[in-house]
Amino acid sequence: MYDVRLAREEEPALEVSDLKAWYGDSQALFGVNLRVRPGEVIGLVGRNGAGKTTILRAVMGLLSRQTGRVSVHGRDAQALRPSERARLGIGYCPEERAIFASLTVSENLALPPTVAADAMTEEEILSLFPNLKIRRREFGGRLSGGEQQMLAIGRILRTGARTLLLDEPTEGLAPVIVRQIEKMLIALKQRGYTIVLVEQNLGFVLRLADRVVAIECGADVAQCDAADAAQAERQLARHLSV
Ligand SMILES: Nc1ncnc2c1ncn2[C@@H]1O[C@H](COP(=O)(O)OP(=O)(O)O)[C@@H](O)[C@H]1O
Ligand SMILES: [Mg+2]
Repeated sequence: MYDVRLAREEEPALEVSDLKAWYGDSQALFGVNLRVRPGEVIGLVGRNGAGKTTILRAVMGLLSRQTGRVSVHGRDAQALRPSERARLGIGYCPEERAIFASLTVSENLALPPTVAADAMTEEEILSLFPNLKIRRREFGGRLSGGEQQMLAIGRILRTGARTLLLDEPTEGLAPVIVRQIEKMLIALKQRGYTIVLVEQNLGFVLRLADRVVAIECGADVAQCDAADAAQAERQLARHLSV
């Protein structure tokens, strides 16, 4: 089992070079480059159809046709299957929340395979998500959209992954739930998790991320530091407006 704590600090947690991907004959990524330091939170923003989801899928090796280099803590992942990539310590939380509707919250948290040492326990996860703690005996299918999102993220944490790829975790959720998810992500950031956050909501991204990368037409076209939110908004606006 790969212990990410032993990873050399200077290696990027995730590095993507010249990543290209296709759906059938239709090319969706045209050479994406990303470098994410351990403990860094980066936001990927861009219009619908820009390629954000495809980048996360290609990092996990889920597409039948993709080229380029993906490495995780300096280890080349390009030849690895998705389950082998997960064992390098990356966890992918797709837009469609991957939970079991007919299992309880606790059962959902018991099932994920451990891919890395030092995985969070069920208790630790439930302490990050007070809503889920109250509903731990409830079936997944009876949770609200926000609770299902929290459970989906909880399942990734249960694996021990320390690099999280999160696809639009706040999509369609009420503002009060979005704030809870924001608090939880801040807690993960403080614990040193590396996060790639795909988000439409630029305000949300700028509160969490260290750096924001704009994706347009299947390529990374601009990036900026998130520390100065007003400047970042000005820089990124043209990649987001419709
Ligand atoms: N399953 C698929 N089959 C064919 N084309 C797809 C599929 N998923 C996405 N695409 C296309 O790939 C491009 C990038 O899509 P996507 O990565 O989903 O963008 P985003 O997440 O930024 O909205 C779009 O042109 C989209 O239509
Ligand atoms: Mg998407």
